[in-house]
Amino acid sequence: MPFSLIRGDITKTACDAIVNAANPSLLGGGGVDGAIHRAAGPELLAECRTLGGCDTGDAKATKGYSLPCKYVIHTVGPVWQGGGSGEHDLLVSCYTRSLELADSLGCKSIAFPLISAGAYGYPKEEAISTAADTIRAFLASHDMEVTLVVFDRTSAAISRTLYNSIAEYIDDAYADARDDSARRRLFGNTMSGAVSAPAAKESRSPGFFGRMKKAGRSKDTAEAVPMLSFPAAETACETQEDKDSLESLIAARDESFSQSLLRLIDERGLTDVQTYRKANIDRKLFSKIRTDVSYRPKKETALAFAIALELTLPETLSLLAKAGYTLSDSLKFDLIVKYFISRGSYDIFEINRALFAFDQTLIGC
Ligand code: APR
Repeated sequence: MPFSLIRGDITKTACDAIVNAANPSLLGGGGVDGAIHRAAGPELLAECRTLGGCDTGDAKATKGYSLPCKYVIHTVGPVWQGGGSGEHDLLVSCYTRSLELADSLGCKSIAFPLISAGAYGYPKEEAISTAADTIRAFLASHDMEVTLVVFDRTSAAISRTLYNSIAEYIDDAYADARDDSARRRLFGNTMSGAVSAPAAKESRSPGFFGRMKKAGRSKDTAEAVPMLSFPAAETACETQEDKDSLESLIAARDESFSQSLLRLIDERGLTDVQTYRKANIDRKLFSKIRTDVSYRPKKETALAFAIALELTLPETLSLLAKAGYTLSDSLKFDLIVKYFISRGSYDIFEINRALFAFDQTLIGC
């Protein structure tokens, strides 16, 4: 996965280069600076003394010594002064200069801490968004494995509003699933039982389908059909778009995953490079999928392509089915992905931050 987010201690991250959030003297300090110097040993400080310091926004490299990396790239982040003193541009420069320096040293992998988000007081939400945007801009034209290592869970936190909205969506789906199993115990698996269920559900809480109906998104309700098998009347195509979507579903019925993926890329006028970069999938894995018509990806990989292609829920289910997967209302990972797709939100890093906040596997290879 070209860009991943992990929780951990950067001094234990094995890669070609790790980045240090240093100060202009480059002579060590607290936080991650202190941790890196302690783990690297005294030779790191000795080499730093020869560098003559570092300007804010710039980056300089030393060897990694006792750390599990070839290089340490020292960069100096901006001290947060309210946002009106060029802090954002300086922080962007820290990431860009560090990546360019790593690239010039031939590094294929690099790990960053959240620069300036500690002692320098940069607000964590802005710090992580700036990091993600800058790293993804670099990866649009470079092949490198970039890891953002957050030391504590709060550093990668998504907004409280988003967190609560996803938690409510999950609760509703679990509640719906409990209702479904209660109804099956009462009515068995008859259609009539299934058809009356949405009405019953509406009275209790909107739930997944109730919310779709309330949002007037009958398309989604119709699209959601494959998961709950409502009778045909409920799934009548209401618009040309629905008809197209149904036609593409029919067209896809006997293709392999790889064939479906390549067809969808062509249908959307995307290039292979655009697709695998947007999906946060590395080039090697993509070429494996492209050349092996029977290749079966992991579920996280298949979903990464569904997000990159901005597939609707039924198109996502159809593509997943080619690899033998589906989305279930009883798995938090699946529900979080459905939450974003059903809202037309396809920013894979934002989805991964939400998955990270809920302790779930990330999307990508
Ligand atoms: N691994 C990964 N991340 C870490 C680690 C670690 N071992 N230790 C701390 N962090 C995280 C912090 O939680 C924070 O999110 O690194 C981020 C940056 O925090 P600081 O290390 O305080 O760096 P910064 O905010 O850029 O301030 C730099 O602090 O240590 C001094 O000498 C340094 O003066 C400089 C200033």
